[in-house]
Amino acid sequence: KSVSVIGMPMWLGQTRYGTNLGPEALRRAGMMNRLQALNPDIIDLGDLTLSQTTGQGTPSLKNLKQVAAANVKLSEKVAAVIAEGRFPLVLGGDHSIAVGSIAGAAKHYSRMGVIWFDAHADINTPETTPSGNIHGMPLAVSLGLGHPALTRIGGYQPKIQPEQVVFIGVRDIDPGEQDLIREKQIKVFTAEDVARRGIEQVIEETLAYLSRQCDGIHLSFDMDGIDPCQAPGVGTPVDNGVSLEDSRKAIRLLAASNRITSCDIVEVNPLFDKEQTTVLVAVELIALLFGEAGADISPGDKTVW
Ligand code: ARG
Ligand code: MN
Ligand code: MN
Ligand code: MN
Repeated sequence: KSVSVIGMPMWLGQTRYGTNLGPEALRRAGMMNRLQALNPDIIDLGDLTLSQTTGQGTPSLKNLKQVAAANVKLSEKVAAVIAEGRFPLVLGGDHSIAVGSIAGAAKHYSRMGVIWFDAHADINTPETTPSGNIHGMPLAVSLGLGHPALTRIGGYQPKIQPEQVVFIGVRDIDPGEQDLIREKQIKVFTAEDVARRGIEQVIEETLAYLSRQCDGIHLSFDMDGIDPCQAPGVGTPVDNGVSLEDSRKAIRLLAASNRITSCDIVEVNPLFDKEQTTVLVAVELIALLFGEAGADISPGDKTVW
């Protein structure tokens, strides 16, 4: 398939400078060459120009104005890429950019599923947030909950319904988030569920659950979903994550399903990424998503890649 890469040098959805350097770090690690070896029709649209100045927000919605403006731009770009029949791959940046990715993609997919691979649920509202960081809110925003400057991007809300969402890898959920997940009965596979039941079964169930009702699937992949021993270069690490091995398998199974229609990969902070471990893992996972054959596949494996 034809792919357009969009860089989102965003860090104002949280307070640790550096996630804005993510897209450039991924490119410097050779991402485009690796992708073009798989598929010549992968183009890099470069980075969107975003404000890097903090301060225009409130304690419960830090930098609201800049985050909203950035996501308006991104939603338009993502919608334009899909309108051309191409797959948008959005490089974060912090996870607040999922607001714009989902707003843009959901214009085309009226019942879009969302796979939220993350240590966190990112379903806080201005009322429940412990931090005021908007990167902890994008899923709530997509469900229509939160500040109208975010929920109404694209001129419509909500973008998705709770039954169109599946969490994978979560293990750090705030009390207000837990209440909302229960109330809305959102499907959750914790990192422990992945370890206990096996990633194959989790992905299979996820795809079966979403396929019944969805016309497209957005994969929102937060690098902190992976265990921080194997992907340390993130701003909010949480122990006992999904193993790198299982993360690779998850991406391969999703790639083989041919159901993913857009993706963002977020929260790489090159300034915390000693030895480039996390950037290289991110590049590898992106390559797997677009069909690179992994090195560790044994021919007898029962799975489908
Ligand atoms: N739940 C916490 C908060 O609302 C942490 C969110 C972390 N989100 C992320 N995308 N890394 O602030
Ligand atoms: Mn996240
Ligand atoms: Mn996270
Ligand atoms: Mn560990």
